[in-house]
Amino acid sequence: MDLGKLMNKHLTRYFDPGKTIPEETLQQLLAFLRSAPSSTNVQPNHFYVLATPEGKERLAANLGERFQDNAEKILNASHTVILTTRADLPEGHLQAVFDKERADGRFPDPAKQARWESMTRDFLNLRNYGYKDLNHWMEKQTYLAMGLTMMAAVELGVEAMPLEGFDPSSVDKAFKIRETGHTTTVLLALGYPDPAKAYGSPVSRFETDQLFTFV
Ligand SMILES: Cc1cc2nc3c(=O)[nH]c(=O)nc-3n(C[C@H](O)[C@H](O)[C@H](O)COP(=O)(O)O)c2cc1C
Repeated sequence: MDLGKLMNKHLTRYFDPGKTIPEETLQQLLAFLRSAPSSTNVQPNHFYVLATPEGKERLAANLGERFQDNAEKILNASHTVILTTRADLPEGHLQAVFDKERADGRFPDPAKQARWESMTRDFLNLRNYGYKDLNHWMEKQTYLAMGLTMMAAVELGVEAMPLEGFDPSSVDKAFKIRETGHTTTVLLALGYPDPAKAYGSPVSRFETDQLFTFV
């Protein structure tokens, strides 16, 4: 991964509609997305991978009136992922996390697993009743997964473009997402850039002295 190049490049707004991510590369990227860590291992996500023209068209047609600018990006991308997050955290989900951890042998010592579960419940109660930010906190996990996947995409030679320009209730409706207990958080378009349309201007970021405080 060439960090120097990455630091100086714009996100890709124009994808080459003629290029498709090879299946093996896509599977590597999705395996990476699956592996992304989340706080307390809460794993609050479900991902819709739009790989067909029909899937991408359904998303592009349901971004909401004011977000039509993003339709072309989605249609020209090879794939787009809808990253959804649980709207709440029912006991059944928590139990499924713990059951999977036990099945995977995460803590070979059952006493440690029990302590972990108790600590997790305490922390989730704090988010839910103390900080009252359970959903917001879960969506932070989604952004972490997306950020890591953007870096993995670079490693695989794929361009990844996050999109927040959409109406979540419209996308939820189009893909019947609410019915699953989730809601759309963010979109990630994936593909290869159209070189003729790539921006050549410098990226604009605050200077380092505005960003970093050394103590
Ligand atoms: C989380 C996130 C969501 C974004 N959503 C959109 C979007 O919906 N549409 C769009 O054209 N650009 C979107 N962008 C691109 C940003 O506007 C862009 O990265 C920023 O203005 C800096 O420009 P640069 O990447 O060209 O340096 C998004 C970027 C991020 C990080």
